[in-house]
Amino acid sequence: MSNIIFISGTPCTGKTTIAENLTQKLNWDLVKINDLAISNNFVLGIDEDKDYKIIDIDALDENLSNIISSSDNLIVEGHLSHLCSGADKVIVLRCRPEILEKRLASRNYSDAKIYENLEAEALGVCSAESLDIYENNVYELDVSDLSVDDVVSILLDVIGGKRELTFGEIDFMEWLLTHQ
Ligand SMILES: Nc1ncnc2c1ncn2[C@@H]1O[C@H](COP(=O)(O)OP(=O)(O)O)[C@@H](O)[C@H]1O
Ligand SMILES: [Mg+2]
Repeated sequence: MSNIIFISGTPCTGKTTIAENLTQKLNWDLVKINDLAISNNFVLGIDEDKDYKIIDIDALDENLSNIISSSDNLIVEGHLSHLCSGADKVIVLRCRPEILEKRLASRNYSDAKIYENLEAEALGVCSAESLDIYENNVYELDVSDLSVDDVVSILLDVIGGKRELTFGEIDFMEWLLTHQ
């Protein structure tokens, strides 16, 4: 049986950190989807307003499918991962916007880009998109009050079938009311 786990979520929720730790502990393969997109030049253009690269999802999906077809145990991390096919399980990391804001601010993001990401987290955009594509194979984990080690240990239990995650119970919409 293969285990193909996608880890998605808004930037700075901890996807890369968690996925690196997990794959090391599990001795699984890791695909960092942003690196895959850039190294293969699956870039259609730059959105100047929003300051990000527009990725060719179809090309990315096709390339990732080839990797998945030759892997048994694989973690794919990135905020675009859930838009690709082939996951057995999609895990969306969620983080309270107040906490995310501090992390995003320490990256070189414009205020507009920070706000856009916080709004996306408050609205649960990655979760909604994942649900659309993966229906009942999507799970969320609120990492707001968890250390990296906590998250890794929870996800090890989830992958090992010792623990279940839920979907749809996390609600950060309150943040929107005070940050219009
Ligand atoms: N559970 C956590 N608690 C505290 N800091 C975290 C946690 N997870 C990640 N971080 C920190 O947040 C920042 C963003 O993490 P990163 O893994 O790059 O996020 P992503 O890949 O989702 O953009 C890093 O500085 C990382 O060390
Ligand atoms: Mg990352």
